[in-house]
Amino acid sequence: MTDTSRERLRTTFTEDAGLYDRARPGYPRRMYEDLAGLATLGPGRRILELGCGTGQATVPLAATGSRVTAVELGAEMAEVARWNLAPYPRAEVVVSAFEEWPLPPEPFDLVLAATSFHWIDPAVRTAKAADALRPAGVLAVVSTHHVKGGSEEFFAEAQPLYERFDPATPPGLRLSPAADIAPDDTELAGSGRFGPVEVRRYEWDLTYSAQEYLDVLRTYSGHRALPAPARTGLLAGIADLIDDRHGGSITKRYLTELMTAGRIA
Ligand SMILES: C[S@@+](CC[C@H](N)C(=O)[O-])C[C@H]1O[C@@H](n2cnc3c(N)ncnc32)[C@H](O)[C@@H]1O
Repeated sequence: MTDTSRERLRTTFTEDAGLYDRARPGYPRRMYEDLAGLATLGPGRRILELGCGTGQATVPLAATGSRVTAVELGAEMAEVARWNLAPYPRAEVVVSAFEEWPLPPEPFDLVLAATSFHWIDPAVRTAKAADALRPAGVLAVVSTHHVKGGSEEFFAEAQPLYERFDPATPPGLRLSPAADIAPDDTELAGSGRFGPVEVRRYEWDLTYSAQEYLDVLRTYSGHRALPAPARTGLLAGIADLIDDRHGGSITKRYLTELMTAGRIA
């Protein structure tokens, strides 16, 4: 992705923060259990979250009793996140690009980015995350992949619609099994700022009605950026496919990846 397209696409989420909040799933409970074993969380601990969205990971992090500071680019996303975090007075949401946010003098025990690290400038994100941490503090990068599984026939049947309405779709694209997607730790491992990288992975399924699935698609930056006629045609075709050929619901398989490393320098 070029710098220009990253900077353009990353602003699309906040265009409909309410939709994002309603449609985007959070993360599996097992991920938080593992995280609690990798980084000490709780009262007295300080967490910095990058790109919190409407609080998908922020709420479970705040529920540990830790003090959470979330830096979020989109003002509307931040507003919904603050609403969701109302029961946790030790959580605050700051509107800023992480690249431009001045780091506070007191370091953090954990820096976490959930489906957001790739939206931050690669020339800045790893070094600045390390700078935000105390020595031995943990960086956690959560990534989301859409993988083969669930309603496999539906996803194969949707491909011609993508080829018709989205010129960026590679011809014949198919979802890969989770096992074929190798974790990519080159950025963290090569930064010289972190110790050994640990990777945990979770495969899980969600079932959607046609309307629910369209709502999820409408939160994706690539779908949001399509010209309106193409987006309308694509979503109508997908809705018909789900309702006419798949009995009104489909199941999507997610691969959530938790990559962690401790600060050494
Ligand atoms: C795909 S969403 C992920 C939101 C949430 N963390 C989740 O797990 O669903 C990416 C979020 O990162 C925010 N974002 C993108 N670039 C950012 C940056 N440079 N600094 C801070 N936030 C950023 C976007 O506004 C958006 O809310």
